[in-house]
Amino acid sequence: MAEKKDSMPAPIFPEAPEGVSRRTFLSWVSVGWVAFSAAMGASLTAVGRFFFPNITFEPPQQFKAGFPDEYAVSKVDERFKKRYGVWIVRNERGLYVLSTVCTHLGCTPNWLEAEGKFKCPCHGSGYYPTGINFEGPAPRPLERFKVARSEDGQILVDKTAKYQYEKGQWEDPAAFLELA
Ligand code: FES
Repeated sequence: MAEKKDSMPAPIFPEAPEGVSRRTFLSWVSVGWVAFSAAMGASLTAVGRFFFPNITFEPPQQFKAGFPDEYAVSKVDERFKKRYGVWIVRNERGLYVLSTVCTHLGCTPNWLEAEGKFKCPCHGSGYYPTGINFEGPAPRPLERFKVARSEDGQILVDKTAKYQYEKGQWEDPAAFLELA
């Protein structure tokens, strides 16, 4: 006749190997479990990143900036500074689009209406409304961007085309919109 087997339920934690105290064994198990959980967490994060990648939504490089009669002569217009990083400046002949990036180390200058200049808060560079630098460490003038009229008559700014004064590029007809 077959011998009746012991029907005790299996323990939740495995038995400690011989020569290792139960306490030490359980602490190894805990460390292993924590490491496993951390690895699983990292894997799930990686999978999550794959399905939901970090996308930054840059403003478009080309945009319409309204009609020329919205711009007062001899004024620096700051409407597009925050979103597009440009100032639009109107003079008697027409208008041009200046980059808001300081040519020293890339900070954003402020337009000081009362003093009639752009002043960089980082190291004190100053620029005339034309964009030409005249004080501080800035090595060259602000850059200008391409500007034209769209079919509906609005001002069309294109930041993919830059024009640098020191290279003679401000003479390019695309760097200035004639309105006279
Ligand atoms: S970044 Fe503008 S003066 Fe240095």
